[in-house]
Amino acid sequence: ALISLRQLLDHAAEHSYGMPAFNVNNMEQIHAIMQAADAVDSPVILQGSAGARKYAGEPFLRHLVSAAVEMYPHIPVVMHQDHGADPGVCFRAIQSGFSSVMMDGSLMPDMKTPSSFEYNVEVTRKVAEMSHFVGVSVEGELGCLGSLETGKMGEEDGHGAEGELDHSMLLTDPEEAAQFVKMTDVDALAIAIGTSHGAYKFTQKPTGKVLRIDRVKEIHARIPNTHLVMHGSSSVPEDWLEIINNYGGDMGQTYGVPVEEIVEGIKHGVRKVNIDTDLRMASTGAIRKHLHDNPANFDPRKFFAEATKAMKSICQARFEAFGAAGKA
Ligand code: G3H
Ligand code: 13P
Ligand code: NA
Ligand code: ZN
Repeated sequence: ALISLRQLLDHAAEHSYGMPAFNVNNMEQIHAIMQAADAVDSPVILQGSAGARKYAGEPFLRHLVSAAVEMYPHIPVVMHQDHGADPGVCFRAIQSGFSSVMMDGSLMPDMKTPSSFEYNVEVTRKVAEMSHFVGVSVEGELGCLGSLETGKMGEEDGHGAEGELDHSMLLTDPEEAAQFVKMTDVDALAIAIGTSHGAYKFTQKPTGKVLRIDRVKEIHARIPNTHLVMHGSSSVPEDWLEIINNYGGDMGQTYGVPVEEIVEGIKHGVRKVNIDTDLRMASTGAIRKHLHDNPANFDPRKFFAEATKAMKSICQARFEAFGAAGKA
């Protein structure tokens, strides 16, 4: 059944687990997530970006999610709008049946320029007020996601930075977070603690701690009833990176967020963990390998099935590591 993010994350807080939130654009990703959740008895958060609705087409995305809910009636599913760039995006998601929306007011609608605190409060409060009338949950974001190592916002391909950030914006301020929640009434808050979007997060293999878990603790202490969200939480699997590059790909050397650090965050109030890149890499690697090993094959179901299997295995590992397995 479709439930709201608030309902699911309240349960997660009560039982001290974290929920991976996987980005979805097509049937194979949704199959992989639902099959993994079914195998380990986990609830599910599916999230779609505005780009996902554009890619699939709004009716297709809506019907894919509704097919997942129909096929797995025993699994609680949240359908969440990822990174709503303006209130309009959030309201269109609600019209499309989403049970949760993210108003990302940390950036201007161009999704590149950092915004003012006042702007962020204004758009987020507007979305929260309207969404709560219809039982839809709201995630906000305070602070700018960017690597504490490189000082950069996420890069899609590792070549050419999107922009360098003022270092002070890379960590969410606990006092400001408390003020923000009070003024907007969001259910969940995405915080900046050293993660960044995309595959190119860290240039060195993380040895010690790459995230500021101390900051998670401080924020959680100030806003214990607001569920914390970690974006940019892919672990960038080294085995899939190697497979991609061994079978004709050309990705640069890079490292992601160690799963153990995410688990540490979950101990201190993180309840939603956004993951997109890991599933992108698993499906790309699996398809490259299949086509290399089976040059005569031209039945796409064969390589899509490999992609689904590869993504399923990552989903299952995250449900287990974050403690969501057995909680459906
Ligand atoms: O944070 C963004 C997600 O990875 C979704 O990316 O906008 O390319 O669908 P997208
Ligand atoms: P990754 O790029 O680390 O997978 O992060 C995804 C994300 O934060 C989507 O909102
Ligand atoms: Na989100
Ligand atoms: Zn994100």
